[in-house]
Amino acid sequence: LSSIEVDISAIEPGQAIKSSWRKQPIFIRNLTEAEIEAANAVDLSGLRDPETLADRTQEGKENWLITLGVCTHLGCVPLGAAQGEVKGEYDGYFCPCHGSHYDTAGRTRKGPAPTNLEVPEYSFLSDTVVKIG
Ligand code: FES
Repeated sequence: LSSIEVDISAIEPGQAIKSSWRKQPIFIRNLTEAEIEAANAVDLSGLRDPETLADRTQEGKENWLITLGVCTHLGCVPLGAAQGEVKGEYDGYFCPCHGSHYDTAGRTRKGPAPTNLEVPEYSFLSDTVVKIG
């Protein structure tokens, strides 16, 4: 199958789930207001791969950060999507393989990852179901 449908109704703000699509891990995260504010407060000129949170989410759904769970350095699965996992210095995701830190918009902030976590094609079929791919 080239696309999947995921029920996101149980993901509370501050939580994330891991799914998989085309054999790759997908992170679906419901950002808190504080995480959205932190992402929007970042000066883009200091970013290696400058993108706003709005560039990486859909209008009116800026709280839903949907990315591949694949580090853009050498492809490990970052930590931070599951309950209790470390989220790194920027409260997003942390790749333990070589120490890449991603922020609450999934943007690379520290360590060797050259680009932000990739955002796949997706669309909301309803408020609670997202189709990826
Ligand atoms: Fe993630 Fe190297 S694969 S830091």
